[in-house]
Amino acid sequence: MYFSTVGIVSDHAGKDLKRLLVELLSTMEIQVEDLGVAWETEASVDYPDYAGILAAKISQKKLDGGIAICGTGIGMSMAANKYPGVRAAVIWSEYTSRMSREHNDSNLLCLGARALNEHRAADFVKIWLETPFLGGHHQLRVDKITKIEKKNGIHI
Ligand code: RB5
Repeated sequence: MYFSTVGIVSDHAGKDLKRLLVELLSTMEIQVEDLGVAWETEASVDYPDYAGILAAKISQKKLDGGIAICGTGIGMSMAANKYPGVRAAVIWSEYTSRMSREHNDSNLLCLGARALNEHRAADFVKIWLETPFLGGHHQLRVDKITKIEKKNGIHI
């Protein structure tokens, strides 16, 4: 495992998948923090609120990584990527899950609960947690992302 502490969030569309993944993660040697939305909440909630709670913790290095679930994964990734040091990736297959780690050093996995079969989504999470970043020339490219953040005045 390349993450020892992982946070997980969802909006209303991702609640069922979040519950399944929290169960999965609790069987692994990982400390899991469920940051909402609470299972009991019946109302519609806004994905940027939950993406922000999780991404702030990753940005401040209070968590190693995280998983964010909404209907498509797209809104969560858009909001989370506004936080410095956060590399949120929407993935939809074994391949994209693995590549987001090997090449992009993603630290936030975004899943679309309405776009994925939940058992496949669980497999994508396992792959993501077990895949190392390859570094080397990929590190140089990731460093360029950090440079863009700095150039645009996005600092912690
Ligand atoms: C909620 O209906 C939906 O818009 C949200 O879950 C997500 O898919 C946004 O990107």
